[in-house]
Amino acid sequence: MAEKTTTRKPPVCVTGANGFIGSWIVKTLLQNGYTTIHLSIFPNSDPSHLFSLPGATSSAVNLIVHQVNLVDAASVSKAVEGCAGGGVFHVASPCTLEDPVDPEAELVDPAVKGTLNVLAAAKKVGVRRVVLTSSISAMVPNPGWVEGRVFDESSWTDLDYCTSRQKWYPVSKTLAEKAAWDFAKKNELDVVAINPATCLGQLLQPGLNASYTQEYHWLGAVHVQDVAKAQLLLFESPNASGRYLCTNGIYQFSDFADKVSKLFPEFPVHRFVGETQPGLVACKDAAKKLIELGLSFTPVEDAVRDTVCSLKAKGFLGQEQS
Ligand SMILES: NC(=O)c1ccc[n+]([C@@H]2O[C@H](COP(=O)([O-])OP(=O)(O)OC[C@H]3O[C@@H](n4cnc5c(N)ncnc54)[C@H](OP(=O)(O)O)[C@@H]3O)[C@@H](O)[C@H]2O)c1
Repeated sequence: MAEKTTTRKPPVCVTGANGFIGSWIVKTLLQNGYTTIHLSIFPNSDPSHLFSLPGATSSAVNLIVHQVNLVDAASVSKAVEGCAGGGVFHVASPCTLEDPVDPEAELVDPAVKGTLNVLAAAKKVGVRRVVLTSSISAMVPNPGWVEGRVFDESSWTDLDYCTSRQKWYPVSKTLAEKAAWDFAKKNELDVVAINPATCLGQLLQPGLNASYTQEYHWLGAVHVQDVAKAQLLLFESPNASGRYLCTNGIYQFSDFADKVSKLFPEFPVHRFVGETQPGLVACKDAAKKLIELGLSFTPVEDAVRDTVCSLKAKGFLGQEQS
């Protein structure tokens, strides 16, 4: 009789593990049989909700919390240390809707140096693959993009355009991803990047995150559970490589606002007159690379419903406005 073999999942580390996307990755890893998960969280930030996730307290599971400031290489190293032969999901990066007082210190440094610290630690330890959470903010705005062409992974955010308009978040994400590709090439490290659009869905963490939605660099939306599934797919698919746009379609922000207002007429959703991004070419299967790897996307309507439901349940959204 053939012996039943169980494939043991390798140890992994998730940076920003207690944030919006990070929490969903931890949940998805647990659902998929990962038992050793290093949780890198900002010093004194609260990871307690992660221990309430299904399977988190099973005796087979080892969730190890590390207090990590991305700019402190030693603290990053400690979190990644136990992941030889495994993976790192580098998710942490400052996300804020406020204009920074000191953009370098608040956004750019933690994003860029943080990414380099994570990659250096991964290389030193012998991690098999790093899945880097980049963003569509590293792809757009790109005013030089060829007119009439659907945005794809070959698009990079125009840094001059963003710096001249003080749009520091896209600057931080673009510089971080570029630095990652440079490091990966020079050091022969296996890195795959995911570039999610605006993430919607249930909040697993107690506080609000900042899904950085501005119509000037909007491409579309995606359910956070699909982003987490995609991250795992990218880690587990040997042939995955390069950048992966992760969005359930490309369409105007005004169309999205229209959809939300129809789904929730009780809320005063802003209605735009005309297109918010003239010239943007709509596309249903813009995330072709991920779809080809086997990802299927949750309908945006379901993602909006899950978001509203979660915001209401957590008291972040008032009840019906009359
Ligand atoms: N949400 C979206 O729509 C979206 C779309 C595309 C890409 N992304 C990317 O996805 C990632 C996660 O975003 P999110 O939406 O999950 O936001 P989030 O909940 O704010 O998560 C960001 C995480 O990074 C941590 N962090 C920030 N600065 C740090 C530092 N210096 N050292 C250590 N940890 C630090 C935060 O810790 P504390 O909160 O405890 O300080 C938090 O856990 C980010 O890289 C973001 O750019 C997000």
